[in-house]
Amino acid sequence: MINVLFVCLGNICRSPMAEAVLRDKIKINELEGQITVDSAGTGDWHLGHPPHEGTRKLLDERSISYEGMIARQVLSEDFTNFDYIICMDQSNLSNLRKIKGGEDAQIISYMDLLPNETLREVPDPYFTGNFEEVYGLMDAGCSVLLDKIKKEKL
Ligand code: 4NP
Repeated sequence: MINVLFVCLGNICRSPMAEAVLRDKIKINELEGQITVDSAGTGDWHLGHPPHEGTRKLLDERSISYEGMIARQVLSEDFTNFDYIICMDQSNLSNLRKIKGGEDAQIISYMDLLPNETLREVPDPYFTGNFEEVYGLMDAGCSVLLDKIKKEKL
C-alpha cells in the first residue's frame, strides 16, 4: 500500500481538496486498495472541523466526495506512516521540517508537480477566496502525482 499525505496550514481548504481530488482519480483509475490518501494541517485551529464551505461547494458541484473528512494536525509519526508528504507552500514546508527535525526528501512541494506553472506555492483560498484557482491546480497536479506514484511505486 502506498500512503499519501497532503499538508496545508488549517486542513480545511487546500489539503482536503487535494485529498478528495486524488481519491476521486484513484477511484476512476481503479487503484483503490493500492493507494491511500489523507490530509493534515500544521496548525490546530480547526481540529475536528469538516472542510471549509468553499471547498465543500466546489467538490459538491463536481460530485467529488469528501465524506467523513475532518481536520487533524500533522503528527511526528506521519513521517513514518506516509510514503509521500506533499505541502502546499513554503511555510508548510518549514513547519514540517520543524516537526520532523531537519530536511527530508520525503516532503514534496505541491507546485513541484507542476513545473510549468508560474505560481510556486498553492495560494490559500482562506485568504484569497479563490477556490476555483486551487481546484485547477489540484486537478492538474493530482494527475501528475498519480502518474508519478504509478512509475515509482506500483
Ligand atoms: P488551508 O487554509 O491551510 O488551505 O486549510 C487556512 C485555513 C484556516 C486558516 C488559515 C489557512 N486559519 O488561519 O484559520
